[in-house]
Amino acid sequence: MKRIVILISGRGSNMEAIVEACAAQAWPARVAAVISNRADAAGLDYAAARGIATAVVEHRAYADREGFDAALAQAIDAQAPDVVVLAGFMRILTPGFVQRYAGRLLNIHPSLLPAFTGLHTHRRAIEAGCKLAGATVHYVTAELDHGPIVAQAAVPVLPGDTEQTLAARVLASEHRLYPMAVRWAIEDALQVDANGVVRQRDGAAQLML
Ligand code: GAR
Repeated sequence: MKRIVILISGRGSNMEAIVEACAAQAWPARVAAVISNRADAAGLDYAAARGIATAVVEHRAYADREGFDAALAQAIDAQAPDVVVLAGFMRILTPGFVQRYAGRLLNIHPSLLPAFTGLHTHRRAIEAGCKLAGATVHYVTAELDHGPIVAQAAVPVLPGDTEQTLAARVLASEHRLYPMAVRWAIEDALQVDANGVVRQRDGAAQLML
């Protein structure tokens, strides 16, 4: 059984989708722990109710990013994970932390990368007149929102969309995309080639919704 650790900062709906897919599809893995940088992250309650170990490493308790990342790494390593999943984890990670988990650290970002790295992705997509928006699962590297792309989901930007309506449409696509990509990582179905491009063993790595 492989072990998954999921890091969250808030609602945790992507974490929920992964926990549920792992159980429903009988992955050869289990979610060993859910860790948050905020004690008030709503997703912690869901995880605890599912009998999953939870931990909080408050970023505010540390003077700098290095100190926080060291404490976070300690909590993660205690679970000996095969895959570490960032699911709405809203902290910038130090290069040392990223290096420690190289090749087993995944993130989901609410845009079709490399467009719209950073924050306010939906507002920026609407303002730019994009006709498609979406989400990207990628390996985490030291450069924010720039790691090798594992899979993407595309959704339409519809006339009259607001930041909220577009965010809801993209989030629904995330709930299908992220479990799919985490499962591939668990099943060792992903390979990163010399150019830093991810190949998925069975082909298609996109959802068009
Ligand atoms: C998701 O939309 C995720 O893509 C985004 O935060 C939301 C978390 O929702 N992540 C980022 O913006 C990372 N830079 P959730 O807590 O319900 O999964």
